Amino acid sequence: MGHTVTDLTPTTGVEISGLTGSRLVDPVVAAECLDALERRGVVIYREAHLDDDQLVAFSRLLGEVVPLPMGGDPRHPEIQKITRDASQSKLAAYREGTFYWHIDGSTATVPDKATLLTARQIADGDTGDTEFANTYAAYEALPARGKAELEGLRAVHSFTSAQLLVYPNPSPKERAAWDRNPAREHPLVWTRRSGRKSLLLGSTAGEVVGHTPAEGRALLDRLLEWATQPRFVLRHRWRVGDLVIWDNTGILHRARPYSEQSARLMHRTSLAGEEAVA
Ligand code: OGA
Ligand code: MN
Repeated sequence: MGHTVTDLTPTTGVEISGLTGSRLVDPVVAAECLDALERRGVVIYREAHLDDDQLVAFSRLLGEVVPLPMGGDPRHPEIQKITRDASQSKLAAYREGTFYWHIDGSTATVPDKATLLTARQIADGDTGDTEFANTYAAYEALPARGKAELEGLRAVHSFTSAQLLVYPNPSPKERAAWDRNPAREHPLVWTRRSGRKSLLLGSTAGEVVGHTPAEGRALLDRLLEWATQPRFVLRHRWRVGDLVIWDNTGILHRARPYSEQSARLMHRTSLAGEEAVA
């Protein structure tokens, strides 16, 4: 049986239907996936229904799979369970942080290359969709003056900045615990070896180097608003079994809020970055 490939928005996303299970675990499919990721930023395999072995095997065909610091299931130490159910994940309390635009691993020198998320259980109604914003397209669409304004500017990314969005009034002890995660300076515009450029923004960006906190905040807010305009955004409504992969270096993402009691459960793998931010 053949499969169908459909571009989603003018700049972003490709949806592939008709490829499921072990049929994905194929070097030809992986090569097509990497090509689509490069061109379209987000690749969606509708109702692919990969089991955990297949998810890890497919991830390995795409790149180097990052092992988790605290493995959940010892049979699949690469798979992280994304859920708000604390009985299933030690990190459940941090999931509210994913409701804000971010990239994964933005406080590292080399952010993750891509993230794979597959839906085991979905949220009720219209909650728990995932949105993606294309920051290559957002950079490209800036007027020349806007691009020039950003040249040489750097932002400080920290876990604390992201946490403050969720918990604006931490106790000094909480704040000190967050601050133990090292902060990282990155340029606002990430220029790849290939010459391709994207905006590097999101919840971890708190200050702009050389700006007052208020000026920096205003610039970061303005840029995030620019980059997440409807014309750069793709919204994914999940079905059980969907596998979604995104180029984490040039695509911001966020979950639309879902309740703490929701059964929503995603299995996730991450691919190690291949290029330091420069
Ligand atoms: C993540 C993430 C979004 C979602 O797992 O890194 O941001 O919709 N997930 O669950
Ligand atoms: Mn994320």
